[in-house]
Amino acid sequence: MAGAGAGADAAPDRRAEGDGDVERDGAEPKGADWWRQAVVYQIYPRSFADADGDGIGDLAGITSRIPYLASLGVDAVWLSPFYPSALADGGYDVDDYRNVDPRLGTLDDFDRMIRALHAAGIRLVADLVPNHSSDRHEWFRAALASAPGSPERARYIFRDGRGPDGALPPSDWQSIFGGPAWHRVPDGQYYLHLFAPQQPDLNWDNPEVRADFVRTLRFWSDRGVDGFRVDVAHGLAKRLTDPLPSTEEMAGFGPGAHPLWDRDEVHDIYAEWRRVFQEYDPPRTAVAEAWVEPDRRARYAHPEGLGQAFSFDLLEANYDADGFRRIITDNLAFARESGSSTTWVFSNHDVVRHATRYGLPVPADGGPQKGREWLLSGGTEPVLDREGGLRRARAATLLMLALPGSAYLYQGEELGLHEVIEIPDEDRQDPTFFRNAGVEIGRDGCRVPIPWTRGGSSFGFGTDGAHLPQPTWFGAVSVEAEERDDASTLALYRRALALRRRLQGPEQLHWLDAGQRPVLAFERPGGWRAVMNFGPGDVTLPEGELLLASAPVSDGVLPADATAWLRVP
Ligand code: GLC
Repeated sequence: MAGAGAGADAAPDRRAEGDGDVERDGAEPKGADWWRQAVVYQIYPRSFADADGDGIGDLAGITSRIPYLASLGVDAVWLSPFYPSALADGGYDVDDYRNVDPRLGTLDDFDRMIRALHAAGIRLVADLVPNHSSDRHEWFRAALASAPGSPERARYIFRDGRGPDGALPPSDWQSIFGGPAWHRVPDGQYYLHLFAPQQPDLNWDNPEVRADFVRTLRFWSDRGVDGFRVDVAHGLAKRLTDPLPSTEEMAGFGPGAHPLWDRDEVHDIYAEWRRVFQEYDPPRTAVAEAWVEPDRRARYAHPEGLGQAFSFDLLEANYDADGFRRIITDNLAFARESGSSTTWVFSNHDVVRHATRYGLPVPADGGPQKGREWLLSGGTEPVLDREGGLRRARAATLLMLALPGSAYLYQGEELGLHEVIEIPDEDRQDPTFFRNAGVEIGRDGCRVPIPWTRGGSSFGFGTDGAHLPQPTWFGAVSVEAEERDDASTLALYRRALALRRRLQGPEQLHWLDAGQRPVLAFERPGGWRAVMNFGPGDVTLPEGELLLASAPVSDGVLPADATAWLRVP
């Protein structure tokens, strides 16, 4: 079984031609350690490329764009959920874990896509959503059709209500998307949904649930999937003994003991998964999406667990030299502790794009700028500095790409895309918008189908429109426009990724005294240096060969909000 499926033996072996200005010398780690310093590109499949012209991106669309991914120089693609789904939460409501949404294609299309990715030297990381299924999953339908107390209900978390006639929910818990976390079914029982009501939480105390996910891991691993991104990895294990604690009481539980989140025993599940991953050659990998305190992250990243965990510390930080330096130092220390490599990410499908966040002022209380007020104001308050935001985003990304560890990129950031604000209410799709009227706008603005061409139907996304409206400014930041511009963000990413491949060495970093503030400077093994000037003034670069910069450098002067890579002999 292990390693037997289509494409499983197509060892990713570099690779299609790049933009030609740097050589690829195949310096990337081969074999089992490929993920440690990989550049992983997140594709939100319904918004990447639409081959069949129904307005929704699909797997054949992705396959058709593999030359683009190869020319960008990514090591792996992380594919957000592509499973059958009613899209109550952008595909994170899964009807069937071992199939492809018919609107996105078939299992044969999946096999074709993975073979073509592997042939281009690109690995595939599949998104796995184990905390909850959708309410259309056959198990949940069976649970609704069965009596309270039945084995069918025991795959989920059903409880009787409180109060006379059980009219009150079992507890006062709120869902992450707003509103109560319990939903009542016709016979009076309630089920738990920590996210939308269409996402019932699975009961991970039930051995049947555990066995079924192992089957899913093997199903995709046999088809050649190289790794998994594990959604809400900190949520699976729950302690739901009666009486259920109130939200207020839950706040008092210490690390590892909270009834719902980040419980210590969740790692028993991942230890079992790890044994499955090790059946394959190379072993399958996993990265945890776990919103936990930084000092709890190492457990998820442990080699006997999932093996790697996202760090969202940079994504949540303001643009600030001291803050960046502290985060980098801490995360490298956490990685040493776990034996894993560090991860870095600025943008994904859940947050306002970083070009936009960095174009907004730091809030008066010094807290993180998440772009929430800007979204709520329809993009007017505070005023967005579009150019400055992009400039800072390019600088930050070039710093990130010089760090040891894996870099996770989100589709469209290589074009320097800003968050799309121009989405009428009636076109919005995100449940956070519907469940928090007037309080949250939601995540649709980073999920708008990306522009491939300057014009045409849906800017080259497909032949007949896009499922979220695209703004007129998309043409100027399309792949077509940026490929013709040597100073574009796309050109910067391509050069950076190609150079990184050549320069990448051991996972070490040595801070340098930049002598000027606020400037960060460090050296990687082999004399590769990165210098980032957070502005507002110019800084003089140290001696060395200038390899790449996020903004023009002349006479050895690095302007504000720019990063340069240098090589010293
Ligand atoms: C994760 C996903 C997010 C989704 C949620 C519920 O946080 O990244 O998009 O809404 O899980 O599945």
